[in-house]
Amino acid sequence: MYMKVLVLGPGGREHAIIRALLKDPAVQEVHSAPGNAGIAQMVPTHAIDANNPQQVLDLTASLGADLVVIGPEAPLVAGVSDALTQAKVPVFGPSKAAALLEGSKAFAKEVMAAAGVPTALAKVASNRQEALEALQAFGAPYVVKDDGLAAGKGVVVTEDLEAALAHAQSCFDAGGQVVIEEYLDGPEASLFVISDGQRGLPLAPAQDFKRIFDGDQGPNTGGMGAYSPLPWLPEGFVEEVMERVAQPTIDQMARRGTPFVGVLYCGLALTSRGIRVIEFNARFGDPETQAVLARLRTPLAGLLLAAAKGELPADLALDWDPRSAVDIVLAAQNYPETPRKGDAISGLEQAEALADVHVDHAGTAQEGEQIVTAGGRVLAVVALGETLAEARATAYQAADKISWAGQQKRKDIALAASQNQIRVPQP
Ligand code: AMP
Ligand code: GLY
Repeated sequence: MYMKVLVLGPGGREHAIIRALLKDPAVQEVHSAPGNAGIAQMVPTHAIDANNPQQVLDLTASLGADLVVIGPEAPLVAGVSDALTQAKVPVFGPSKAAALLEGSKAFAKEVMAAAGVPTALAKVASNRQEALEALQAFGAPYVVKDDGLAAGKGVVVTEDLEAALAHAQSCFDAGGQVVIEEYLDGPEASLFVISDGQRGLPLAPAQDFKRIFDGDQGPNTGGMGAYSPLPWLPEGFVEEVMERVAQPTIDQMARRGTPFVGVLYCGLALTSRGIRVIEFNARFGDPETQAVLARLRTPLAGLLLAAAKGELPADLALDWDPRSAVDIVLAAQNYPETPRKGDAISGLEQAEALADVHVDHAGTAQEGEQIVTAGGRVLAVVALGETLAEARATAYQAADKISWAGQQKRKDIALAASQNQIRVPQP
């Protein structure tokens, strides 16, 4: 079968997905909506509103797409997957009801409790008094999360009670509630589990870097870089996450009549008391996907179509490039606040000329001959290497060739892991 695939979304994750789909011999055509300047160099892009179910249905019909892959959370929450399912178009990405695992942290906690999935103890608060009581009950460091969607930026972790209360108040002022949690010690890992509604299939674990500055300082971002695989993970980690976290969650969602089809993104902490879920997302993570899919050799379109149809084969063994992948995010001036747009980007060709390097675009736009910045996270520079240290060195060598006014990047992506300095705390 020769497939036509439509990928929804504008970012680096979507560029990485499209790159992987184009390597699948079963894929005849890939289309993107809305895409970005980098994606437009690879496949046709369509300037529709990907969050509008009717516009997506119309485009899908006019292309005759065999599969729609939804990248970001916004179209999921807008019900784009539901509309496609109703129109009998295979879609990779959960229904609005199932995407609530990401859309509401309170709902995710409820599902985890019902499924017996280990996660941080948490309390929901809707006013200052409730917030104060919960913060005092758990003690410092304080963890306060906006209950709704906040693109990874709604979480404050702080030793300062006033700052914790101020974040809670800003969420209340916006008409929302907050989830207050116990603090989880230990390193974090992201595991993407492809689900067909019944069965889960794990991809390779990755780690991302959420804070804007080196040494995990400054505010949270969508993610400033990532690497895969994780040499420091204990033996049996993936099996344990499948058994204790992913499969029970998939089962619980099916039992509720809202089966989860798509990527169950398990954000995990390896604490002194064992594995804990930090968060679920209902989609591929960005920028982890850029590193993970750079290593996947199994054809991606077949995998996503099988999941979309509820036909993921049992005991499918995925084929991985044994090398390591590292990606470095290059962000615009003033990200994660209001990023400056329209800066001319130089050095892209020089970076991509290096062996085992490619650049996934996120917030970029084409202005005549020139590619310019058009968002907070602008590019992810991806490199493969025999070792993590080699992949990292190549990724930075490439990233250092790319510049624009006010560009930001972290210098310590994958550094601790490449020096064998990550320790999982023991009880
Ligand atoms: P989230 O949006 O829930 O993934 O949170 C963003 C980031 O905040 C996570 O990647 C962690 O680094 C941090 N974080 C969230 N929850 C906790 C917690 N309970 N304890 C420690 N750090 C946390
Ligand atoms: N890398 C974090 C996220 O995609 O939410």
